[in-house]
Amino acid sequence: MASEKTVVAVTCTAPVNIAVIKYWGKRDEDLVLPINSSLSVTLHQDQLRTTTTAVISKDFTEDRIWLNGLEEDVGQPRLQACLREIRRLARKRRSASDEDPAALSLSYKVHIASVNNFPTAAGLASSAAGYACLAYTLARVYGVESDLSEVARRGSGSACRSLYGGFVEWQMGERADGKDSIARQVAPESHWPELRVLMLVVSTEKKPTGSTTGMRTSVDTSPLLRFRAESVVPARMAEMARCVQERDFPGFAQLTMKDSNQFHATCLDTFPPISYLSDTSWRIVHLVHRFNAHHGQTKVAYTFDAGPNAVVFALHDTVPEFVAAVRHCFPPESNGDKLCVFERERA
Ligand code: DP6
Repeated sequence: MASEKTVVAVTCTAPVNIAVIKYWGKRDEDLVLPINSSLSVTLHQDQLRTTTTAVISKDFTEDRIWLNGLEEDVGQPRLQACLREIRRLARKRRSASDEDPAALSLSYKVHIASVNNFPTAAGLASSAAGYACLAYTLARVYGVESDLSEVARRGSGSACRSLYGGFVEWQMGERADGKDSIARQVAPESHWPELRVLMLVVSTEKKPTGSTTGMRTSVDTSPLLRFRAESVVPARMAEMARCVQERDFPGFAQLTMKDSNQFHATCLDTFPPISYLSDTSWRIVHLVHRFNAHHGQTKVAYTFDAGPNAVVFALHDTVPEFVAAVRHCFPPESNGDKLCVFERERA
């Protein structure tokens, strides 16, 4: 960034990621440190993405943000945490280099505009793409080049996994300051080109219990969640990484379904209980199991986040038959349920 510049504008896009080993529960709410590691698949940006533009100018008198065209409160603690963190990293970088500190427009206020091309807060991982995009765009505008896991994570935990394509793990870390709680690519998008992701959109309404509140209540009340974090997830992370490395679809699919089911079991074990799945979600679960039983092998897998929408994994040659099965069970004219087909990110 040249010293004479008074306005700098950067636009970036970021993808959605779908966890196959779920993150649910924080050990530190402020730093957004999880109680277990998680692993996800990043989707292709052609279908689902956040686009963010950040502009810094010496003429701006305050930081401001617009989300999908509407101005939002820039004072939100998570947004503030991201802004503080990125400015801290920029200052650190500046003081480590020989450049004139006055040249970096760190004191300049920023205006941010972010749009999703999909429903916000409907269990379609919008906060993940949103905060990953925010972290990346702010890094570009302020000239930060270091690891952005912490910036994205402070916005929304799962966002740190959207900083990478392909298969990504978020290592929970052990340190109290969270410096080792980072995202890392397990395999690039080119590693498993036959893998496909379908999204069965059951509802685009905002979820009644947000992830942050939901997981806080689960941490406070669910013994199953503690058992899961301590005794189940560590082995599942290793097994999932193996399935990905070896492109073992049946292993990947079974573990994905089991982990989704256990996450929703911890929601029911929460008090008062949280229920994200609808009757339609359950019909999809049963359809997938019937489809696999019919073939005598695991050919498709479902996973559900904090909402009723299903994400289905299959290899490409299975997709036409499974989509036909879905259309047969959910004829568009009779129930209005929509089916959208999205492909996973590829090289
Ligand atoms: C069910 O990342 O949205 O999608 O850190 O509180 O913002 P906060 O939560 P968030 O939680 C995502 C939960 C999940 C599982 C996952 O993506 O791993």
